[in-house]
Amino acid sequence: MKIRKLNKKEKIPMDLLLLADPSEKMIHNYLKQGVCFVGELDGQIIGVFVLSQQEPNIVEIMNIAVDEDYQGKGIGKQLIHHAIKSAKEEAYQTIEIGTGNSSIGQLTLYQKCGFRIVGIDRDFFVRNYPEPIYENGIHCRDMIRLVKEL
Ligand code: ACO
Repeated sequence: MKIRKLNKKEKIPMDLLLLADPSEKMIHNYLKQGVCFVGELDGQIIGVFVLSQQEPNIVEIMNIAVDEDYQGKGIGKQLIHHAIKSAKEEAYQTIEIGTGNSSIGQLTLYQKCGFRIVGIDRDFFVRNYPEPIYENGIHCRDMIRLVKEL
């Protein structure tokens, strides 16, 4: 898989981004200040992530998603390692990520990539999303915040 920055003139892979975040409005908001990377295999975009500066030394992975046909094959892990590498190259000191309390698999993946839980933004998804979100039979209410020092 080749991982590269999405060219400004290219179409945004919205279908992929929506796998990670049900709100197109939120996606457009963080795409304005973020940099979108794509993972490409045989000319097809199969993965995406968005890196956005939060503070001078801190960058956040705002969205990460892998095409459903390619999930569970190590692609997500490759994308996260690439995000970490890019953040280091740009001299950030910390990389952050946030996910729902119901996102069990994502919490597994991020911790396997070296992120540690540092906090909980209680009711983030209740405050920011008009429709209730359910995943793994759990009401997604809180955002679990994770951090990796670079
Ligand atoms: N349950 C348990 N472990 C899991 C799960 C799961 N559901 N998903 C991944 N993992 C673990 C795997 O066991 C694997 O560990 P290993 O390398 O030790 O074997 C590791 O995480 C990496 O798995 P990958 O195969 O690289 O993960 P994948 O390519 O499927 O990508 C992703 C993970 C991005 C979460 C993908 O499943 C996806 O696109 N999901 C839908 C969108 C989404 O939820 N995105 C994240 C939202 S939060 C945010 O965007 C900031």
